[in-house]
Amino acid sequence: MSEPRKILVTSALPYANGSIHLGHMLEYIQTDMWVRFQKHRGNQCIYVCADDAHGSAIMLRAEKEGITPEQLIANVQAEHSADFADFLVDFDNFHSTHAEENRELSSQIYLKLRDAGHIATRSITQYFDPEKKMFLADRFIKGTCPKCGTEDQYGDNCEKCGATYAPTDLKDPKSAISGATPVLKDSQHFFFKLPDFQEMLQTWTRSGTLQDAVANKIAEWLDAGLQQWDISRDAPYFGFEIPDEPGKYFYVWLDAPIGYMASFKNLCNRTPELDFDAFWGKDSTAELYHFIGKDIVNFHALFWPAMLEGAGYRKPTGINVHGYLTVNGQKMSKSRGTFIKARTYLDHLSPEYLRYYYAAKLSRGVDDLDLNLEDFVQKVNSDLVGKVVNIASRCAGFIHKGNAGVMVDTNAAPELTDAFLAAAPGIADAYEARDFARAMREIMGLADRANAWIADKAPWSLNKQEGKQDEVQAICATGVNLFRQLVIFLKPVLPLLAADAEAFLNVAPLTWNDHATLLGNHQLNEFKALMTRIDPVKVQAMTDASKEDLTASQTDTGAAAPAGNGELAKDPLSPEIEFDTFAAVDLRVALIVKAEHVEGADKLLRLTLDIGDEQRNVFSGIKSAYPDPSKLDGRLTMMIANLKPRKMKFGISEGMVMAAGPGGEEIYLLSPDSGAKPGQRIK
Ligand code: 2FM
Ligand code: ZN
Repeated sequence: MSEPRKILVTSALPYANGSIHLGHMLEYIQTDMWVRFQKHRGNQCIYVCADDAHGSAIMLRAEKEGITPEQLIANVQAEHSADFADFLVDFDNFHSTHAEENRELSSQIYLKLRDAGHIATRSITQYFDPEKKMFLADRFIKGTCPKCGTEDQYGDNCEKCGATYAPTDLKDPKSAISGATPVLKDSQHFFFKLPDFQEMLQTWTRSGTLQDAVANKIAEWLDAGLQQWDISRDAPYFGFEIPDEPGKYFYVWLDAPIGYMASFKNLCNRTPELDFDAFWGKDSTAELYHFIGKDIVNFHALFWPAMLEGAGYRKPTGINVHGYLTVNGQKMSKSRGTFIKARTYLDHLSPEYLRYYYAAKLSRGVDDLDLNLEDFVQKVNSDLVGKVVNIASRCAGFIHKGNAGVMVDTNAAPELTDAFLAAAPGIADAYEARDFARAMREIMGLADRANAWIADKAPWSLNKQEGKQDEVQAICATGVNLFRQLVIFLKPVLPLLAADAEAFLNVAPLTWNDHATLLGNHQLNEFKALMTRIDPVKVQAMTDASKEDLTASQTDTGAAAPAGNGELAKDPLSPEIEFDTFAAVDLRVALIVKAEHVEGADKLLRLTLDIGDEQRNVFSGIKSAYPDPSKLDGRLTMMIANLKPRKMKFGISEGMVMAAGPGGEEIYLLSPDSGAKPGQRIK
C-alpha cells in the first residue's frame, strides 16, 4: 500500500456581492467531486475556499444598500454557505478574505516582496470623481466611444464597435457612480515587479502544472514580455491598508489568492494535527491544486506563483482550468430564464441531478460545457433512475419477500463482478485526470451490462417457476452486489444516493477499496426509492422562477426598465400565455408630455405621460436611443398602465412604455397611428 497523499485543493473565491449561479456551480461541483474522490481513496485531501470580500464594487454596493461592507459580506457569506452545503459541496473550511489571517499573510508577503526589491513605486494619472472623492476604475467611467460615437460606453471598451481604449480617450466622460465629470489626478502607486520572475515562470508553466491549451496561451504572454502589476488602490477602498503606506490599500486581486492560504491557516488554527508549513512551506511535499475558470488564468498562472516564489513559499502543483457554462447552447440569459441561481435550482430540483449531469459532460479540457435542459432530464432519468437505481429496485423485493432480506452468499455472475473489478483502475484514472465524463461513461457501461444480465436471467419469470427460488436469490444477491459496486464508483458524484444506498445495504460508509469485496449472507434493510425521475414540469418551473428573479432584481436595484434594456428584445422565445393573462394587461395610448434626463442615471429617461384622466411618471431605459429627450415631447406612445408601481433609486415608476429593438441606439418606441387619443385602451 502506498502512503496516503497530502493534497490541498481550492476553488476560486466567489465575490461577496452576488449570488451563486449554475455557472459558478460548475467549478465547485467539479472540485468537490475530485476532492471526494481523493478522500474516498484514502488520501488526506483538504478543500478550502472563502468569499472574496474586498474591492470598490463591494464598498459601493454596501453603501447603496445602506449597510456596512462588513454587514454585506456577512449576509452574502451566509447565503453562499447555504447554497454550497445544499449542493453537497463539502468544504473543509469556507472563510473570508476580510479576515485577520489574511491581513497578516498579505502584509507579510508584501513585506517580503518589498524587502527583496520586487516592489516599485511611481505616480500614475487617473480619472477621479470630484463628488465621490475617489479614483475611478475603468468600469466606473462611461462616455462616448472615441471610434464610433456610441454613447454610454464603459471606460475601456465599446460594446457597439468592440474598440478598446484608455478611459482618457472617451468623449464626454462621466463617473458612473455620481454622474459627475471626472478630473485627471496623480497618485503614487505600488507595483509588483512581475518581470523579475520571467525565467521562473517560463519553466514553471511548462512543467506539467497547466493544461496544454493554457500553457500555450501563457507562452504568448510570456513571449510578449511581462509588465509590472499595479497592486495598490487609493482610499476610499474596502480592503487592507498597505503596511507603512497610510491611505494606500492592496488591490483586491493581491489579497484574493492569499485568501486560499488564509482559509487554510484559519483551519489549522482550530485543527492541531494540521501543520500550515507542511502545506505551504518552501519544502512542502504536499500537492496543491487550484481549480479556476479560464477568465482568471493570468492571476493564477503568472502573478500568484511569482508572489509565492518571491515571498519564499511553495508554488502550486497544478492549476486546473475549466471553460464556461452555457445553457441550451447559449450564454446564460435572464430573459430566457437560463440565468439560474443556485437557490432557484435547489427550490425545484435535487442537487444530485446537476452533479451527475456536470460529471457526465466534464472532461479535463477548457471547453465550455453546455447544460441542455432537455438532455439533462433525459440523461439523468435514463442513466441514474433507468440504469443504476433500477438494478437495486429490480432485485431488492425478491430478497425481502423470498429470503427475509438476507442476501445469499452465491455469486451468480463471477465474470461480471470480475469485469467490474477490472474496470476500477480505469475509472480511478479518469477521476484522477478530472475526466469525469470518461469515468461516467465507463460506469454506465457497467450498469448497462448488469441490467442486460438481469434482464436475461429474468428473476421475475423464474420466481413463478417451481424449484427456482434458490436461483432467484443468487441472481438478486449478485444484482445487489453489482449495484453496490456502481454506488462505490459513483460516490464522489452522488454522495446522497450513496448514503441512502448504504442505509439500504446496511453497511458502514463505503470507500473506494470496498469495490473489491462482495456481500454474502448479509441482511439488507428495507428498500426505499433511491431516486425519482426528473419531472420536466419542475425544470420549466425553475426557468419561470429565474425570469421572476430578474423582475425582482430590477425592482431591488432600480435598474433600467425592461423597455430598451436589450435583454427582452434578444429573446425570441416567449412562452405562450392564456388570453386572460393578456386581457389583464391595461395597454393605453400615452402622450409624452415631457421627457427628461435623470441625474445620475446612465440609461434612464423620466417620462411624464398623459393617459387621458391622469398623468403618470415613468422611468424608461431608453436614453441610449434618445440622447436628446426633448425630441420625444408631444409624441404618442403605448404604455402598460396597470403595472404595479416600482420603487426605483430615482423615484417611483408608474407603468412602462413599450419599445422594440436590440438595445443601444437601436431602441424604437412604439407609436399608434395618428388620430389615437391619450388614454385609449389598446384592444
Ligand atoms: O473572478 C472572481 O470571481 C474572483 N473573485 C476569483 C478570486 S480567486 C482567488 F484568487 F482568490
Ligand atoms: Zn464604438
